[in-house]
Amino acid sequence: MTRKSLDQGLPRPDAVSKACGDSVYLPDMKVHGMLHGVILYSPVASGKIKKLDVSRALEVSGVQAVVTADNLDGDNSIGLVFPDQELLVKNTVRMVGDRIALIAADTLEAAKTARDAIVLEIEETPGVYDVKKAVTENSPLVHSKTNVFKEFFVKRGDIEDAVVKADIVIEDDYSIGGQEHAYLETQGTLAVPFHDGSYRIYSSTQCPFYVRFRVARMLGLPHNMVRVIQTVTGGAFGGKEDYPDEPAMCAAALSKATSKPVRLVLPRDYDMQCSTKRHSMEINHRLYAKKDGTILGVKVNILVDAGGYAGLSTVVAERANTSAVGPYNIGAVDVNTKVVYTNNLFGGPYRGFGAPQVGAVHEAQIDRLARTINMDPLKIRQLNGLSSEKPIFSTGETLSQPHIYQDMLKIMKEKSGWDKHRLKSSSDGRFVEGIGASTIIYGVNLHWGGSRLDRGASYVTVLNDGSISLWVGVTEMGQGTLAAMRTICSNALGVDESMVRIEEVDTALVPDSGPTVASRATMSGGNAIIDAAKQLNTRLYKVASGILGVSEDSVNCVNAVFSSSASPKTVSWKEVVEKLYLEKINPAAIGWYRSEDRQYDPETGQGRAYAYYTFGGHVVRVRVDTDTGAVDVLETTAVHDVGQIVHRVAIEGQVHGGTVQGLGWALMEDFKLKNGKMLNAGFTDYSIPTSMDVPPIMNMEFIQEPEPQGPFGAKGVGEPSFISVGGAVLNAVSDAIGRDVNTLPLTPEKIIDILNS
Ligand code: MOS
Repeated sequence: MTRKSLDQGLPRPDAVSKACGDSVYLPDMKVHGMLHGVILYSPVASGKIKKLDVSRALEVSGVQAVVTADNLDGDNSIGLVFPDQELLVKNTVRMVGDRIALIAADTLEAAKTARDAIVLEIEETPGVYDVKKAVTENSPLVHSKTNVFKEFFVKRGDIEDAVVKADIVIEDDYSIGGQEHAYLETQGTLAVPFHDGSYRIYSSTQCPFYVRFRVARMLGLPHNMVRVIQTVTGGAFGGKEDYPDEPAMCAAALSKATSKPVRLVLPRDYDMQCSTKRHSMEINHRLYAKKDGTILGVKVNILVDAGGYAGLSTVVAERANTSAVGPYNIGAVDVNTKVVYTNNLFGGPYRGFGAPQVGAVHEAQIDRLARTINMDPLKIRQLNGLSSEKPIFSTGETLSQPHIYQDMLKIMKEKSGWDKHRLKSSSDGRFVEGIGASTIIYGVNLHWGGSRLDRGASYVTVLNDGSISLWVGVTEMGQGTLAAMRTICSNALGVDESMVRIEEVDTALVPDSGPTVASRATMSGGNAIIDAAKQLNTRLYKVASGILGVSEDSVNCVNAVFSSSASPKTVSWKEVVEKLYLEKINPAAIGWYRSEDRQYDPETGQGRAYAYYTFGGHVVRVRVDTDTGAVDVLETTAVHDVGQIVHRVAIEGQVHGGTVQGLGWALMEDFKLKNGKMLNAGFTDYSIPTSMDVPPIMNMEFIQEPEPQGPFGAKGVGEPSFISVGGAVLNAVSDAIGRDVNTLPLTPEKIIDILNS
């Protein structure tokens, strides 16, 4: 089953510098003459600005500029998808953390003193803090029109017929919580102005091309006047997808106002309160099934709490909508997803784009059906799941590798010791044990709705000495992209990994490669590298064939040695590169990737939603303390359909990290909100897993059937490694305590509530 990976076993390119503390993260960056920027933000979630007087702030010694909506020299309308958000609020506040003024000063202390000297009066207005209330007629409106700003649908088959023919209906309202990204360094930017009016923006981001687009648009500059350099990024998880543009625009605005470099770094409490979060969702889910367990139909209604602005919520909701049914072949489907403004936290992308929330629900539902008819949970998945015989997904697409789902179920069963633990997991006094499984399907790459961004670029140069300089437009954010890209480049050229050097993205060096999201880095970056390598190989093989005295098409390069089937001679990479330069042949290539065009109908959710799909599954074993509600995770088993392993350490890291982050979401991480204000904005009160919370046993297995569209057959596992965790935990806890569960996270308090209800 397990094949070798493509890598040569070298440590990740970023490993040593990160481990030794050499990497320079944005908050530690300094340039000569740099000012410090801070933000005055709204302490309330809903209100009207009555008074804003910055005169005393300007008198503070060391203050260089105070920028408000009134004197901003740029475009204040900053929405990425919808034009509903201001960089600096002029009249109406819609979220705690809405920016009202920006201050730049010689020192951070002076900037903060000036901020404290600003007179701000906000008249609070009634807000809406419950997404279910926000969709009712008499709810306060967050913007001028309806709070439901976008809807998505899946309509397939005859759902009314399924309702009539069903013997069993499984229905519940699920309440699935959000999550803080908890990246290493908080959001921040260093903006450096140049005398020609251009800017260099250092940004901790996973999407440097978004930063370039929005900073340029705000400043009214052509894109070539804004160069974005991604700084070493210590985790992003979607939290550094669109939000980094906001501090970047703030720093750029202050830089423009002062003609000086400005560094702006959010403090952790402000970052947690204001930056985007995983969306909380309210989901009504109905399964219509026959007595034998066959599911006839599924009806799902999803409310996505977007917070005060659209941001990328529609992108997240679009995927939640498409993923709501799960990896099953079901004849009748009716999904409605509403994206809703509230005055709560700002919803945004987070590892899985809404798929984890709906995944927990479809997996809870299928387990309930299994319990109702007394069938094994893996058996019912086998019965209703995608397979060679039943290859049609809820989008109506006939999948190319549906059998992998069935293979995955078998591996999950064996690898987790399912049958043995199912028998043992019985209630036993205070401590009860349980086991739960969860399976998902994930469309790698962007949904049809965003497919115009589905592109990627690389820039590969063979230098005079034979070393190779590699730039790609997809980012390293801790997940291992630098390693994967280096491995793909060395394989595509036939050289040693140690000959290839790669760094974080610089927008001046590669074309806009779209966002690094949706588990698409390996696919889009990798394919772009292969494209560049093909161009270079044509030239290198020509030179080598001259030296070897053979025809070009008989040449090959392995381990940096060129050989030919037509000759016993060989020639080294170094020698060929020397000749390449002597003959003045172009040693560089820009590689490009574009995903295949696809058709999709947004009214029915039918068509080809994604480039291709991957399956993932988790089995989780837990022990629940029924006195305290605490859950111990005893063992996890992850099985992923990855096409081809590119870099062994990177992929194992993804699965370990995704699993533990998923456990944090499912068991520990809980926003305490009061009128849109986060009461636990800090790591003292918002708990995430530490090394002490990592399960003692974490199994993993990879299915490697090459994906024709992937580089060397690779798929992508960044998000799948997270997505199926929530459902498995929910089902394991439910199995342990013998009760239906309809919420995440399962904090001890909630488990006690369930046990007492
Ligand atoms: Mo994103 S949720 O980083 O694809």
